[in-house]
Amino acid sequence: MELTAEEREWLDGGGGPALKRAMEIVVALGTIYGAPHMIPVESVQISGVSYRNIGDAGLRFLRQWADEGAQVRVPTTLNPTAMDMVRWEAQGFSPDFADKQRQVVDAFARMGVGEGVPLPTCTPYLIGNRPSLGAHVAWAESSAVAFANSVLGARTNREGGPGAIAAALTGRTGAYGLHLTENRAATLRVEVRAKPEAISDYSALGAIVGRQAGQAVPFLAGLPLDARDPLGEEKLKALGAAMAATGAVGLFHVEGVTPEARATVMLAPEHDTIVISDLAPGYADLSDDIDAIDLVWIGCPHASLREVVLVAEALRGRTVRVPLWVTCARPVRAIAAEQGYVAVIEAAGGRVFVDACMGIAPVRDLGFSAVATPSAKGAYYLRNLAHVAARFATLHACVDMAVTGDRG
Ligand code: F3S
Repeated sequence: MELTAEEREWLDGGGGPALKRAMEIVVALGTIYGAPHMIPVESVQISGVSYRNIGDAGLRFLRQWADEGAQVRVPTTLNPTAMDMVRWEAQGFSPDFADKQRQVVDAFARMGVGEGVPLPTCTPYLIGNRPSLGAHVAWAESSAVAFANSVLGARTNREGGPGAIAAALTGRTGAYGLHLTENRAATLRVEVRAKPEAISDYSALGAIVGRQAGQAVPFLAGLPLDARDPLGEEKLKALGAAMAATGAVGLFHVEGVTPEARATVMLAPEHDTIVISDLAPGYADLSDDIDAIDLVWIGCPHASLREVVLVAEALRGRTVRVPLWVTCARPVRAIAAEQGYVAVIEAAGGRVFVDACMGIAPVRDLGFSAVATPSAKGAYYLRNLAHVAARFATLHACVDMAVTGDRG
């Protein structure tokens, strides 16, 4: 691989042991994937933050970087943790778990992530880390990767945890995969004959497409979406998150909507075609046969301000029987609180937590075994990572379940 003089010097240890190790990682990854050279990245988003997932071994690994003085070279944001970093007691976490989770975030903070004050979220594009069309970035969270590539037209592969840290410390990633124009054409045409309306309908659609797409780049035609849709961004966020969860989709195009499919049809000459006429299987495949639910979780990916407003409007004047938790980025909650929406939700008995993701939390240890969510990715993670039963339904159905206590 061709390296600049500066990159060569870092690789030879001229920038210290942490930078040398980071350079070794990005060069090894680039070599595996056939990158001819490195590309500077404008921002990095790091995953692998939940103490439940990384454990003591992961914490030691992070501490070692931080102790060696590793410092990020480009703006870097952090994926969610397992818990609300301030209100973890209200979620039922033990002090021991909270202490370990705090040490994980502290290690990232010492490396300069979030300019020393990380705001954990899987929607960095809602809180200022929003790359522009054509920008090269190195992001790790799969739903954010799909959003950055597809909705913003930025360019990123799906980085692994250590790969993203190495990219943050070097400001580099290999020139391969979705960084290259030739790999961004669609390889699967999806004719959508179903009529998705609610945000969760787009999530159900994404779950169906993801299962059939695998690693393909889907081009979706026939979606009733246009630039004037006030919830258009939320629908695309849900669509991409689901395709990245049930499949390995890192980039998709929507005819006439996403930036690389507005003027031209980004379709490779050799491509498959599938037709989606019914969204019901998308909901059914991610819903277990359960009698009752004991938690409703909304905010996967982390809720936008508009989604918090939707929950508040659905809950206004009602009272929940089953805990209802909304998860979002800390700045989103701050704005929603200022505008009175958090008060509406919490007056109804719901809670708006920040930093946290229930998909990577020890949900069973918190006392829950059956969770309803309007997110296909949420349901997928609840089942496969948190090992609880899931019910995937529209946001309004989920709110109703929380109010009535029924399974919907
Ligand atoms: Fe975000 Fe967790 Fe969902 S990281 S996309 S809230 S599973």
